[in-house]
Amino acid sequence: MRRRDFIRNVAAAGAGAFVLRSVPQTFAQTVEGRIEILMDEPFGTISPNIYGHFTENLSGVIYDGIWVGENSKVPNVGGIRKELVDEMRKINPPVVRFPGGCFADSYDWRDGIGPVDKRPRRTNFWNGGEKPEAPDSHRYDPNRFGTNEFVQFCRLIGAQPYLAANLRSLPAQEFNRWIEYCNSPAGSTTLADMRAAAGFKDPFNVHYWGVGNESWGCGGNFTPQEYAVEYRRFTAWAPGYPGADLHFVASGPSDNGWDWTRGFLEEIVRKGKDQVRGIFGLALHYYAWNLSRGKTNDWNQGKGDAVKFDAVDWYELLRQGDVMESLIKGHWLVMSEYDPEHLIRLVVDEWGPWYKPGSELTPGDQIEQLPTLRDAVFSGLTLDTFNRHADKVGMGCCAQLINCLNSLYLAHEDRFCVTPVGHVFAMYAAHQGGTSLRTEFSAPSIHYDRDGQIASFWGLQGSASLHGKELVLTAVNPDVKNPKEAQIVIRGAKVKNGSATVLTSSDIHAHNTFDQRQAIVPATAQVEIKGDAPVFRFPAASVVKLTLTLA
Ligand code: AHR
Repeated sequence: MRRRDFIRNVAAAGAGAFVLRSVPQTFAQTVEGRIEILMDEPFGTISPNIYGHFTENLSGVIYDGIWVGENSKVPNVGGIRKELVDEMRKINPPVVRFPGGCFADSYDWRDGIGPVDKRPRRTNFWNGGEKPEAPDSHRYDPNRFGTNEFVQFCRLIGAQPYLAANLRSLPAQEFNRWIEYCNSPAGSTTLADMRAAAGFKDPFNVHYWGVGNESWGCGGNFTPQEYAVEYRRFTAWAPGYPGADLHFVASGPSDNGWDWTRGFLEEIVRKGKDQVRGIFGLALHYYAWNLSRGKTNDWNQGKGDAVKFDAVDWYELLRQGDVMESLIKGHWLVMSEYDPEHLIRLVVDEWGPWYKPGSELTPGDQIEQLPTLRDAVFSGLTLDTFNRHADKVGMGCCAQLINCLNSLYLAHEDRFCVTPVGHVFAMYAAHQGGTSLRTEFSAPSIHYDRDGQIASFWGLQGSASLHGKELVLTAVNPDVKNPKEAQIVIRGAKVKNGSATVLTSSDIHAHNTFDQRQAIVPATAQVEIKGDAPVFRFPAASVVKLTLTLA
């Protein structure tokens, strides 16, 4: 089964049996590495939006995760879970995507505005995959959390809203009207009056608009050429208002779907080369899911377990994460055929690992999984990849914020925890807005047994950014056993002092739960300066941030 078929047959996507293997014993040893930061080779500002999030009306993401209701015993701010707001404020979230995902192309934004007691209940797109015992709100959308509540959530956490519009089942006029509802000045239109009646006199000024989602699949089953025509129709003469600079994100490829990128852009420019000016970003979706080591491409059979895995699964997942780099480079190359000036950015608005069901902290939550240290390393690796391609990646949205795939947070009723992925976002927030610097990592490769064959994976990788006199270096050591000591050579500057934040554990399966919220948390460490160069020992299976103050 392929991912698109899985979504079509969502009700049938059941759990497969898992295989539990033991972690093979290897000998611990320290190896030498070198990290060279080239101060005179900057390649772009790291858009804060790379550190964005994704929230879909899917199972426990919105109802239970974000929205608990004003009358809930769970501490809340106008119905929005307070602990989530408090935690998110710590990570400086730049942007949040809503309401989907596949849900977006089934959603009528009008259902989610107006007096709450008059809002209709609708069958949720994901209803087919919900268990019979799932709460009503997961199966039949109460529309209690709509545009106003989402924008309020964004305001509370200091993020920009990124709305994904329905291109499959609503006409273009409704897209324009949603923009009008959000952005038309106070008192100017009937929709602005409706917004004011809900307590929002001033416009929301929503800049970011997704134009459909996965239009090759759940978003309409279009060919890239058909979608390009729809994209032009939806975005041409969309209403502009003062205060909102419309940034449209086109539904892009999944994985290495070069044909989608090429077919879409080929059709877009058939109307004229300058048509690329109407596209802020091309969305790329990439999930790491196949841990079968080449045995199958079946969407259900190929997936691994989120928590019960051995060292080979650890490396295989990271290997899949590492594919992101070639996807960015590959799509960028195809984009250059039609957009040689590179006006269009890549918007990786869905990324993360996707495991088989069974690890969810809230039994019954569909597509929820329990992130471990492995996912923290995967996330650090991915964010470092985005930083290294700061000239190409304009936005990234981790899938998804809470109670879902690569979630930063898990919550149920009055219980809550920050996952290791959430801790990585807190550490990496320091990169936002910095100048990405070319950074060369050299460390001995890791070798591991892959079904009787020796497989290799790099030994240390990361990214660096400059913020005035402060240099932020992040790196992951994927080696499950061996720490890596590395000398950090900064070409063109001297380091005065430094400090480190380290996320690791002696157990590669380490994770937080509602009962053990602190099982894995970041720790601080010293950075030694030997001669002119800092030296740091990157623990086995770790994500590290070094903050270096330059002389
Ligand atoms: O994130 C879950 C789903 O994965 C999204 O709804 C869809 O866009 C993707 O296939």
